[in-house]
Amino acid sequence: MTDVLLTANHLSVRFGGVLAVNDVSFDVRKGEVFTLIGPNGAGKTTVFNLISRIYQPTAGDIWFDGRKLTAEPAHAIAALGIARTFQNIELFEHATVLHNLLIGRHTHRRTGLVRDLFFTRTAREAELHSRLKAEEVIDLLNLQHYRDTMVAGLPYGVRKVVELARALCTEPRLLLLDEPSSGLNVEETDDMAFWIQDIQQELGITVLMVEHDMSLVSKVSDRVLAMNQGEVLALGTPREVQTDPAVVEAYLGTIDDVSSLRRPA
Ligand SMILES: Nc1ncnc2c1ncn2[C@@H]1O[C@H](COP(=O)(O)OP(=O)(O)OP(=O)(O)O)[C@@H](O)[C@H]1O
Ligand SMILES: [Mg+2]
Repeated sequence: MTDVLLTANHLSVRFGGVLAVNDVSFDVRKGEVFTLIGPNGAGKTTVFNLISRIYQPTAGDIWFDGRKLTAEPAHAIAALGIARTFQNIELFEHATVLHNLLIGRHTHRRTGLVRDLFFTRTAREAELHSRLKAEEVIDLLNLQHYRDTMVAGLPYGVRKVVELARALCTEPRLLLLDEPSSGLNVEETDDMAFWIQDIQQELGITVLMVEHDMSLVSKVSDRVLAMNQGEVLALGTPREVQTDPAVVEAYLGTIDDVSSLRRPA
């Protein structure tokens, strides 16, 4: 099955009495945008934390490009080609946008400490490549204007894009986006949809996303997996999943209209 990049196999994780993820299986195909939806507490971020190796599953395993991810330590994940953004933005506040992108690159550097100390040709080339990559991503995401601005002084919407940029700088094959539109206004959410489409179509990066805004989900997702209380409810195209009776049922009582799952900023 060469077209599959990531496989989650009967994943479960328990925190005390809570089964946060309960026997969840899915495949993410190379090149697609695959989206997890579900009400608050459904287990979506926990799935991301399992893939990032922050949590160890109680049962099941995860495979990435033929490799058993659940046998790898958390610090190996970036070098394997997986990058993520966080539900709550995680950036270095007192560094510039450019510096945040360069720090992001460091997880990816292949040069060793000794070579770095002597600043050999390999280290110099790696440094140059990092800088070129950061500038390329700044151009791609239209961040030129903020390049030398301290993150602490940036509006929320720009920080979201900087976080996306930081993840892209590691040149991932799989990009995990946890609620890319949360806190964004309508116009910023439209921009985010464009960036996600560019990342998929221009850069050829596979995207696994968690998202509440169903108009964004429908616009960019190839397939959607709906979860509720740790379990899989439905899998299919955005339309199939949105109209699935089990999905509609899960959202009842939490919101009035399934077509507008956007949470207040
Ligand atoms: N480290 C942890 N310790 C204990 N319980 C946890 C931990 N992480 C997650 N949980 C619990 O697991 C369940 C799933 O949480 P998770 O954050 O994955 O939900 P989510 O689908 O991302 O929700 P939201 O849409 O609110 O972000 C919740 O009941 C949560 O309280
Ligand atoms: Mg979450």
